[in-house]
Amino acid sequence: MLIVDDDEAARSACIEIAVSLGYKAEGISKLDRVRSTLLQFPTDIVLIDLPSNSDSGLETVAEINALYPRIAIIAMAPVNSASVALSAVHCGASDYLNKPFTVDELASSLERAGGQTRVDAQARQLRERLRLHDGMGQMIGRTPQMEKLYRILSKVAQTTHPVLILGESGTGKELIAHTIHNFGPSAEKPFLPVDCGSLVPTLVESELFGYVKGAFTGANHAKEGLLVAAGGGTVFLDEIGELTLDLQAKLLRALQEREVRPVGATHRVPIKARILTATNRDLASMVEKGSFRKDLYYRLNIVNLRLPPLRDRRDDIPMLVAHFLNKINKEHPSRFSIHDEALRAMMQYDWPGNVRELENAVEHGATMTTGGEIQLGHLPTQLQQKPLAALHAAASAGRKKEEASEEDEIVPLAVRERIAILDAIRVTHGDKLRAASLLKIGKTTLYRKLKEYGISDPMRGN
Ligand SMILES: Nc1ncnc2c1ncn2[C@@H]1O[C@H](COP(=O)(O)OP(=O)(O)OP(=O)(O)O)[C@@H](O)[C@H]1O
Ligand SMILES: [Mg+2]
Repeated sequence: MLIVDDDEAARSACIEIAVSLGYKAEGISKLDRVRSTLLQFPTDIVLIDLPSNSDSGLETVAEINALYPRIAIIAMAPVNSASVALSAVHCGASDYLNKPFTVDELASSLERAGGQTRVDAQARQLRERLRLHDGMGQMIGRTPQMEKLYRILSKVAQTTHPVLILGESGTGKELIAHTIHNFGPSAEKPFLPVDCGSLVPTLVESELFGYVKGAFTGANHAKEGLLVAAGGGTVFLDEIGELTLDLQAKLLRALQEREVRPVGATHRVPIKARILTATNRDLASMVEKGSFRKDLYYRLNIVNLRLPPLRDRRDDIPMLVAHFLNKINKEHPSRFSIHDEALRAMMQYDWPGNVRELENAVEHGATMTTGGEIQLGHLPTQLQQKPLAALHAAASAGRKKEEASEEDEIVPLAVRERIAILDAIRVTHGDKLRAASLLKIGKTTLYRKLKEYGISDPMRGN
């Protein structure tokens, strides 16, 4: 609610009472600030002081009533000026209070006004809460880990420091880079991603720094590098751990001097872009081993954001599933939903491919179901198998009890083997040589088995 009163003591007393009654209250002293305040704050009730010797208060009441018919207006008028109060009601006030009034009088007037607007207010609060609490921007999740991330994110978005984004594959590194850009002051300017891992080093160099005509065979015309083209926008260097030592040196120089030398050029061009970087590799240990420059690491790592793996924030899974179902439902005539058992399996699964794997699983389910409801059987096979830990537990429990149902607990050898392989690849973060050695088999055997089980993307479990 908005309280308009030029008497400071009266205003703060009203705010205090309103807050104690559960309202969110804002106070202003001048009538001419009403309009801008209403634009700024969604308001249900305006409590407005009307001095007996001025008409401008009445005009304001009439204006609020015309522009915001759903706002309840309570006029406050001196006790001896019944005509002001009446005129206020005439102009659209729904109630009036004679000054001075008691706390109870104010409370019951607010109660009456509140009753009128409560339904609207609740709906709006719910929408607000949903909007605020689903996540931040496009990012879904409201577990404490994500909330903490949003807090840091909203701060770093306002700066131009480099940010190093860390996290396993599919945790949302690119999405968070976008969010930093979108919440920052240069959101209107370009956001240019460069995948340092998918291009050969010479291409990365010409992409980033640009080149002059004739710099190399095929360079028929000069091209601006992305660091220049971004202007005051953002360049997102993805998979920064893949940058060669030579390019690391060049990037460091560009960041230090805020200028680049295009390939084949003798001149330098100034750059203004903000640099965000991401990697799923352990850069600190690469620094120790000498494969990543320490000075560059420190320069990029002024702030770092570490995205938690999905298995460490399982409470976000239902919300993410709902989000991806909504996304599909928007583009699809039939409405998909999820069966409890399928959701339970999703809550228990380890998600080595994180949110991307979850998104794929929901899409897979939507493709497989015929009735619109995604059931356990419609999910990718790895979700239908019990996790290894559960298998161990079941096996030892079975041994103890020796019950008939033990037979039900027997899992085909091939399934166990498949799970063991996926687990080994997950814990070694995709290092197949180490995975093979943990499994005590040769690397070629591992490759053969991956092929045999049709596992093409082991980090994502399929
Ligand atoms: N918190 C989230 N809320 C909604 N969608 C998300 C979230 N995190 C990730 N996603 C979605 O999951 C997919 C993978 O995210 P993204 O590409 O940002 O991951 P990444 O960490 O960059 O992965 P990689 O290391 O494999 O490049 C995208 O489709 C992205 O929109
Ligand atoms: Mg990525």
